[in-house]
Amino acid sequence: MATVTEKPSKAFSRPKIEHTDCFIDGKWVPAKSGKTFATVCPATEEKIADIAEGDAADVDAAVKAARKALESGPWKSMSARQRGRLMFKLADLIEENFDEIAALESLDNGKPIADSRAADVPLVIQCLRYYAGYADKIHGQTIPIDGNYFCYTRKEPVGVVGQIIPWNFPLLMAAWKWGPALAAGCTIVMKPAEQTPLTCLKMADLAQRAGFPPGVINVIPGFGPTAGGAIVEHRGVDKVAFTGEHLTAQIIMRNAAESLKRLTFELGGKSPNVIFNDADMDAAIKGAHFGLYFNQGQCCCAGSRVFVQEDIHDEFVSRLTAMNRERRIGDPLDPTTEQGPQVDKAQFDKIMGLIEKGKSEGAECVTGGVRHGDRGFFIEPTLFTNVSDDMDIAQKEIFGPVMSVLKFKNMDDLVTRANNTIFGLAAAVWTRDIGKAHKFAASVRAGTVWVNCYDVFDAAAPFGGFKMSGQGRELGEEGLKPYLETKTVTIAMD
Ligand code: NAI
Ligand code: MG
Repeated sequence: MATVTEKPSKAFSRPKIEHTDCFIDGKWVPAKSGKTFATVCPATEEKIADIAEGDAADVDAAVKAARKALESGPWKSMSARQRGRLMFKLADLIEENFDEIAALESLDNGKPIADSRAADVPLVIQCLRYYAGYADKIHGQTIPIDGNYFCYTRKEPVGVVGQIIPWNFPLLMAAWKWGPALAAGCTIVMKPAEQTPLTCLKMADLAQRAGFPPGVINVIPGFGPTAGGAIVEHRGVDKVAFTGEHLTAQIIMRNAAESLKRLTFELGGKSPNVIFNDADMDAAIKGAHFGLYFNQGQCCCAGSRVFVQEDIHDEFVSRLTAMNRERRIGDPLDPTTEQGPQVDKAQFDKIMGLIEKGKSEGAECVTGGVRHGDRGFFIEPTLFTNVSDDMDIAQKEIFGPVMSVLKFKNMDDLVTRANNTIFGLAAAVWTRDIGKAHKFAASVRAGTVWVNCYDVFDAAAPFGGFKMSGQGRELGEEGLKPYLETKTVTIAMD
């Protein structure tokens, strides 16, 4: 993961909120209904701003603008290289506004500013630059077929894409979706999560300043069933890319059936993080702590099931307990904070409910398990031991700072248990034995496997899920494919 070397000592000031309306066809417009909703700071529970609440009427206007931009106008006639240059310019503008964007993300989402600065914003910039470089490297093939024909393929943009994203990495999820779509020449209607619309609106503003023509990028803030649902059902949208809960993906798949839209999904997980007794213990313990508690546990790939080989179990638990007790919980805008609040009351309540379930099912709560303070949605880093595979805390995606530790005997016992989940997003293994690492990597049903590391992301490396963790891949060359149609052209030569 990218790192920021310069460490400011003072708390960041609250950034100005410039944009709260829908962004359609290059203009900032209120929702046609006139409705707004509040975006709230999860650390203080206070309203930050009122945001335009888009619905079907606004989505329709955005889709029409995106269609027009796709089929006529400067975007269609622009060279691929020129598209890439606009994307590089957008990345530069984000870099120029680095601290302001990081602070805006931390204010709206609650994540520590140290994380926004070290992870979110650098990865956004990297992703946009990676796909900017791809724009002029997308091309078809010539194909030798029988007979006297010249046959070739063209790679064309899939069209108008609807992109629905969650709140855990608001700007990064927007970049993962804009990057391949823009490189491919698509036009975009994006709905940010209702909890965290601010940085996506800021990026739309920067995109306009970078020179993207009107209608290429449209942003409709609003709620899932209304604004999101309208994107999924709209006949003018060719493809939907969604990141969020698997249950929402099921609704989207049903609602998209009528128009047979192309769909890609990046969904949740219950990722196994496996520690063998021959691992570098210091690295494994730090990796397990980071792999789960990073971003308040609100990561689709969080290492929430930590399998520890039985003879090192007690040492692992006692050292992790000490780390949890030292974790600095507090103001997201304070650069020394390590853990902020959960994103909203609904998530807080869901997590607390699962913690109670874990206790009632007989798991032992070694640290945390309780709210931190009395203002904001903070939860103490929670560690459960004596967890068995069938408990809710070992099966359900908690999406909070709650780790379940499970003992295992050997590799044979382990693999079946690691795969005993509906999900298959990520997995990790800690061992000095390279054979064991490869064996585990080959046997685990997961889209990403980390060996002696966790949460290593790069725009060039594909990411996505097996099983109910998703369909298709984001990032890398694979991430581009869902944004392209292949057209085969065959020409008689005589
Ligand atoms: P969600 O899946 O409901 O929300 C994600 C996005 O989908 C938001 O923009 C939301 O407005 C939109 N949406 C919701 N219902 C929709 C619908 N019917 N049609 C179209 N769009 C719709 O996730 P939510 O409710 O915020 O969180 C619930 C749980 O989902 C979390 O506790 C966590 O377990 C999981 N989750 C997983 C994420 C991941 O990165 N894989 C991200 C966020 C949540
Ligand atoms: Mg939901």
